[in-house]
Amino acid sequence: MSDDWKLVCKVEDIEMEDLIRFDHDDKTFCVYRLEDGFYATDGICTHEAVHLEEGLVMDSEIECPMHQGIFDIKSGKAVSPPACDDLKTYPVKVENEEVYININ
Ligand code: FES
Repeated sequence: MSDDWKLVCKVEDIEMEDLIRFDHDDKTFCVYRLEDGFYATDGICTHEAVHLEEGLVMDSEIECPMHQGIFDIKSGKAVSPPACDDLKTYPVKVENEEVYININ
């Protein structure tokens, strides 16, 4: 396994239609569990420096807790203002009931 893959948690640690925060070095991420799998984005909203960990997951979108900007979790695309810049997304895989994120 490449060093780029970082262990986040066990599958059962993330509720369906929810997310957890994952920090590594000086970066922070959100890792989501949706009906069809796991996804990851940058943790900080692109509108202002607010973490999305307290945001609301609705279908495959995340609503920022600060000004309710909305992003598509799978593409990172900003879909509702005031969010207008997209979030970066990251590959996620599951092995042996554990969730890994590729942070590069
Ligand atoms: S800080 Fe996220 S929408 Fe404003």
